[in-house]
Amino acid sequence: MSMLDRLFRRFAPAGAAAPVDWGLTPRPQLLEVDKWRLSGLLSEIVSIVGVSPYPLDELMLMGAAMVYHRPQAVIDIGTHFGKSARIWHEYARRLSLVCEIHTIDLCDPEHPEFPGGTLGEYFKGLPVTQHIGDGCEVAMTLLDQRSDAAVLLYVDGDHRYETVRRELELAGRMHSGCIIVHDTFYQPGSTYNHGPYLAIQDAVPSLPVEQVIHLQTGLPGMSYLGPKPRDGRA
Ligand SMILES: C[S@@+](CC[C@H](N)C(=O)[O-])C[C@H]1O[C@@H](n2cnc3c(N)ncnc32)[C@H](O)[C@@H]1O
Repeated sequence: MSMLDRLFRRFAPAGAAAPVDWGLTPRPQLLEVDKWRLSGLLSEIVSIVGVSPYPLDELMLMGAAMVYHRPQAVIDIGTHFGKSARIWHEYARRLSLVCEIHTIDLCDPEHPEFPGGTLGEYFKGLPVTQHIGDGCEVAMTLLDQRSDAAVLLYVDGDHRYETVRRELELAGRMHSGCIIVHDTFYQPGSTYNHGPYLAIQDAVPSLPVEQVIHLQTGLPGMSYLGPKPRDGRA
């Protein structure tokens, strides 16, 4: 019997629906999920957010991270329309996770991606907490307030090398969970912004990171960093 079943039998009120454990039991050391089963959720997610800016493989990786880590909080840097925040919410709901979703945006009219009135339009009315400020600063405070929680940190702010390097240092404050970085496609010789990819390459050797997965079959690209847990938990 899985841990989830044991907890359910012990604490759930009579008549409550049994939870579904979407992960593999016992959980493998590195990220591994039942991709066939997770694929079954994709059409529902696509019907809500479409496939742009997140193509199918990226939506799968986002779901896999939720299934495997079962985060208690998601910290989403770079709100804009709120598609990523909505995706975290939809996965958390379908996986029966008790998970706070926080999203942060600079909301600076001088910034080329200033969202203006479209800020967070994809999660209006849903339980997603919007913060205005610098992603790294706000995330630092949120992480310090959740020092024993499993957290999924999502990095999709301004995509400059220096900014992403600074955001990746947040791995040192994470108890357990993972980091996902967006726009990490790398194509030598192209004029694409390679800042996020190069930041990962340079930062990882000195970070408590055990596993790196790059989705790089085309733009925009997404990368998963599985930090070494502080106390043996993933
Ligand atoms: C690519 S968009 C994010 C897309 C969003 N994740 C989605 O799925 O809809 C980047 C956003 O990051 C914001 N941003 C830029 N620099 C930031 C920073 N230092 N901290 C927080 N947000 C930032 C921009 O205002 C912009 O809205």
